[in-house]
Amino acid sequence: MTDALKVGIAGLGTVGASLVKIIQSRASELATTCGRPIEITAVTARNRSRDRGFDMSGMAWFDTPEKLAAEADIDVFVELVGGANGAAADSVRTALQRGLHVVTANKALLAASGVELAKIAEEKGALLNFEAAVAGGIPVIKALRESLTGNTISRVYGIMNGTCNYILTKMEKEGLSFAECLKEAQRLGYAEADPAFDIEGNDTAHKLAILTTLAFGTKIAADEIYLEGITNISIDDIHAASDLGYRIKLLGVAQRTESGIEQRVHPTMVPHDSVIAQVDGVTNAVAIESDILGELLMVGPGAGGNATASAVLGDIADIAKSQPGAQRVPVLGTPAAALADYRRAQMRSHEGGYFIRLTVADRAGVFASVATRMAENAISLESIVQRAKPSEADSDKTIILVTHATTEAAIRKAVDAIKQETYLVGEPQVIRIERPKAF
Ligand SMILES: NC(=O)c1ccc[n+]([C@@H]2O[C@H](COP(=O)([O-])OP(=O)(O)OC[C@H]3O[C@@H](n4cnc5c(N)ncnc54)[C@H](OP(=O)(O)O)[C@@H]3O)[C@@H](O)[C@H]2O)c1
Repeated sequence: MTDALKVGIAGLGTVGASLVKIIQSRASELATTCGRPIEITAVTARNRSRDRGFDMSGMAWFDTPEKLAAEADIDVFVELVGGANGAAADSVRTALQRGLHVVTANKALLAASGVELAKIAEEKGALLNFEAAVAGGIPVIKALRESLTGNTISRVYGIMNGTCNYILTKMEKEGLSFAECLKEAQRLGYAEADPAFDIEGNDTAHKLAILTTLAFGTKIAADEIYLEGITNISIDDIHAASDLGYRIKLLGVAQRTESGIEQRVHPTMVPHDSVIAQVDGVTNAVAIESDILGELLMVGPGAGGNATASAVLGDIADIAKSQPGAQRVPVLGTPAAALADYRRAQMRSHEGGYFIRLTVADRAGVFASVATRMAENAISLESIVQRAKPSEADSDKTIILVTHATTEAAIRKAVDAIKQETYLVGEPQVIRIERPKAF
């Protein structure tokens, strides 16, 4: 058997500690499948004295990730610290400059600096693997980077944030408010004390930016994503969606269009009978539509120590099996130097169906006026219903519209026109509808 693969791990938290325990407990199986043993020879975290539930003897301790990356006697540097800048970014750069292979689960770092890091890795002949950075344990990076080579991809979309999906599922199943479900998610450890990053959609956006690059061969453009979180979703929206045969999910969608590539993260109505609508709780799902294969849908655990460590371990095993000096798969699917500039499709030209919920005063002619504003903008309606709102004053009614495919520009114009009307009470709610192709 060849020499052991020497691994240094920076970050021994939820993912890092799970990874160490898995590698230690399956040492002999891993040595057999990888053709060589995998040995953790160096580690670092902030607190050296914390008991992490595994034996650290035989592992050299380094005081910082940067020192470990620069000085440790290792073949692979595993970054599980997190954050777009600081120790994570500096240590990954240092390791790659040294020609070490790197494995990371850090989507924030890749969204900010992925192309730059890929360039360094490719210049140095090193591997930079990041399966765990998107949708946790689901092997979507490998699918896009390797398995779908030759396919032209038209759309990638998915549920990529377990916290948001947990909240939306719980709101629907238990009829609770957004605030109540968020509190419960925090109590169960699904949401951070400051949950803004998840519920405002930024976390999904980072993951989407990475998928867009792999799918379309364009430079990472995380700042060019249309972003709407789930904080505005009310129980009324969820009930109305359900009555109409839809569920609301926070989706990240990247789509090739004639005017460029759309990248958008927003609450989305998906048909109740689609598979993605059935993905509940903290589970993730990613769908890929391509010309040769058709539609691929992967569903699985998107977070958690073991699920994430499973993806990190797969990346380490790939390195263990790789031959020194062998031709490398480009880090981002396309060689970093050959990535095309990202051409952003304007959100106003997005085409699709829309759900609109209006609270209006109970006056004669309101229903007809709303229908007229839609017709003036050439928006054709799948349905329009009016109901009394039991939770509001008797004088208020709700009008719910579902449109056939139209443009975002037309919807905005129609909604702006309705906003000028005196019968409108409060802000209109507009939610885009996404239709899976196959499942
Ligand atoms: N948790 C998940 O389910 C999940 C899923 C997918 C991807 N990820 C990604 O995986 C990475 C790690 O996440 P995690 O949940 O394991 O985080 P975590 O539990 O907060 O662990 C972070 C680890 O990094 C160490 N650390 C933080 N700052 C450091 C510094 N400046 N110098 C040295 N060590 C430092 C911490 O040390 P101490 O332990 O001493 O404080 C801790 O061991 C992140 O990029 C995250 O986005 C996580």
